[in-house]
Amino acid sequence: MALDKFVITGGNRLKGTVTISGAKNAALPVMAACLLGEEPNTIDGVPDLADTRHLADLLADLGARVERPAPGRVQIRVEDEGNVHAEYDRVRKMRASVCVLGPLLAKRKKARVAMPGGCQIGPRPIDLHLRGFRALGAEIELDGGDIVATAKKLRGAHVFLGGPFGSTVLGTANVMMAATLAEGQTIIESAACEPEVVDLADFLNAMGARISGAGSPRLVIDGVDRLGGAEHRLIPDRIEAGTFIIAAAMTNGEVALKNVRLDHLMAVVHKLREIGVNVEPSDGGAEVSSARHLEPTDVATYPYPGFPTDLQAQLMALLCLADGNSAITEKVFPDRFIHVAELLRMGANIRKEGPTAIVTGVKRLIGAPVMASDLRASAALVLAGLIARGTTTVSRVYHIDRGYERIETKLRSLGADIRRLSE
Ligand code: EPZ
Repeated sequence: MALDKFVITGGNRLKGTVTISGAKNAALPVMAACLLGEEPNTIDGVPDLADTRHLADLLADLGARVERPAPGRVQIRVEDEGNVHAEYDRVRKMRASVCVLGPLLAKRKKARVAMPGGCQIGPRPIDLHLRGFRALGAEIELDGGDIVATAKKLRGAHVFLGGPFGSTVLGTANVMMAATLAEGQTIIESAACEPEVVDLADFLNAMGARISGAGSPRLVIDGVDRLGGAEHRLIPDRIEAGTFIIAAAMTNGEVALKNVRLDHLMAVVHKLREIGVNVEPSDGGAEVSSARHLEPTDVATYPYPGFPTDLQAQLMALLCLADGNSAITEKVFPDRFIHVAELLRMGANIRKEGPTAIVTGVKRLIGAPVMASDLRASAALVLAGLIARGTTTVSRVYHIDRGYERIETKLRSLGADIRRLSE
């Protein structure tokens, strides 16, 4: 793993046009879903990221042939169903590896997947995924740090998937995938409504599944005997789009975004308008500009359609420049605040109280060496660097590379002064 860093000289206004990639968090479950089918699949709009490559390697371990015949296009066909083990080494590197659990269980009747640990954004239990599988008739045990799930036959059931922080995105994806091949009807209540779940349901339906209600908290899945293959284009990455919108706002820029679904960003656009950022739809995309004067605001993250936790850190970087006090409350991952300490190193004024950060706007941020070990937190530091006086060095950018396709190239094309160096 190359330990690259970004060196950013702040102060340039972002101007121009940027094209948003396909959604990482749609790509991962959609790729995993290919394990369910009998025929080849073609997925377009797959971002070239550490995480999507990582999942491709895991699928190869599990007997799939994964090819990238053209940029953004991934073809997946299962050739050998012998192996059902997702090893710790893979799961440790990417927690989303757990989304092979549902497909393996449904198609191969057995899955052995290393239990993921916590990560920088806090504890990440998967009890809700397991509750769903048990309801479908699977037996689950823990053996040597692996979850071993087995089922002679999965049977449809009425499952409630709500947890202490509301719905679960990958839990919904996992149980929905398992239910596609179960006997009879499954109803998932308190299902996640994220656009990525809808994209997965669309893909599964194209493979021959019978899922309705995607995008609502109640999913109805009528089991089928087999799934074929499908061709599918992934939705645009709403978090990457939100990150660029905030970057434009912070630098007082004027940026046009292509390949954006503003209807997936309603809470974000609403909040940004309150702050003084203009975000307007334009022919298949959006245009962003901002007032020099940014208003403070209060915001809490929630499951979709609420304000996404994956943009909380970036919004905090923006609110560091607002004229007054803002309160940011994390309702999805209450410990997801590792960027606070790094932003303080850049002259921000932030006080944390439990799951809330009180941000008092400052006149300017000041460049500094910083690092963060969460993808979105690291992205927030890059944004802060774009506006900070002097030079900011963001270390360990492999975290950013997990989720943003060529972020420095895209930012540079908009006029940012950002370079990648090997550490
Ligand atoms: C997905 O993670 C995303 N990852 C995350 O994006 C995102 O932050 C998160 O959803 C919330 O939107 C992918 O899609 C690959 P959850 P996921 O299960 O599905 C609790 C990024 O930066 N919970 O919806 O794992 C959990 O602890 C990443 O791209 C349980 O209690 O998140 C959390 O508080 C980071 N038990 C809440 O639910 C469970 O079994 C929501 O988590 C599962 C979750």
